[in-house]
Amino acid sequence: MDIEYIKENYRFETLTKDHDLSNFECDSEDLTNFLKDDALTQQKRKLNLTKLIICDDELIGYVSLLTDTIPLKDIRDEETRKDIKNQLNITSKKRKLPAIKIGRLAIDKKYSKQGLGSEILMSILFNIKNLAESSVGLRFVTVEGYAKAYNFYVEHNNFINLKKDDMKIKEELDIIIERNPEQTFYLYLDLKVLE
Ligand SMILES: CC(C)(COP(=O)(O)OP(=O)(O)OC[C@H]1O[C@@H](n2cnc3c(N)ncnc32)[C@H](O)[C@@H]1OP(=O)(O)O)[C@@H](O)C(=O)NCCC(=O)NCCS
Repeated sequence: MDIEYIKENYRFETLTKDHDLSNFECDSEDLTNFLKDDALTQQKRKLNLTKLIICDDELIGYVSLLTDTIPLKDIRDEETRKDIKNQLNITSKKRKLPAIKIGRLAIDKKYSKQGLGSEILMSILFNIKNLAESSVGLRFVTVEGYAKAYNFYVEHNNFINLKKDDMKIKEELDIIIERNPEQTFYLYLDLKVLE
């Protein structure tokens, strides 16, 4: 299927037992297996909610979301921490900031690395922003991104490394990916950047 066609015509559907997941394969065995083996159970337990990305009748990818909080003290960059503290008029260092976590996001191998992931991520972020405007106090989006997806989140989609020095990670990224492409990094995005 043509990528431009998918960009125009994909939709989100909440995962059910009736969806056929058998042909799905992304670039991470863990994420492929999670969808096939665990996503529905976790959803029934209310630990994750999985939305499938579907175009016509084909499964293109999925995203699993859950709630999260960011302890203010964990924001490494002092400027950013002070900024957020001032903007939100926070006095206590112990304050936790409300967030939604992208537990997992994957695009089928056939369609990845062609710009679709960024397009879909943007749509997910705007859906979360709508939630923040209509339903619940919510300011940040978090993700524990794999090293191999670091550039996808940080370079291309405005996420910030919460705990580590981003410049240092960037310098060492190739080595980190070679050593363990699925090493995770805690990343976040302030929904304010979408305004
Ligand atoms: C991470 C993932 C969701 C991104 O989706 P995607 O569709 O590949 O995303 P994009 O195509 O927008 O961007 C991915 C890369 O393709 C490149 N790309 C985008 N459009 C391109 C094009 N037309 N031609 C060639 N490359 C392109 C981007 O520059 C980006 O490169 P980089 O991140 O290495 O710098 C997907 O690759 C995936 O499922 N990976 C396996 C699972 C995973 O790691 N998930 C993240 C952990 S939560």
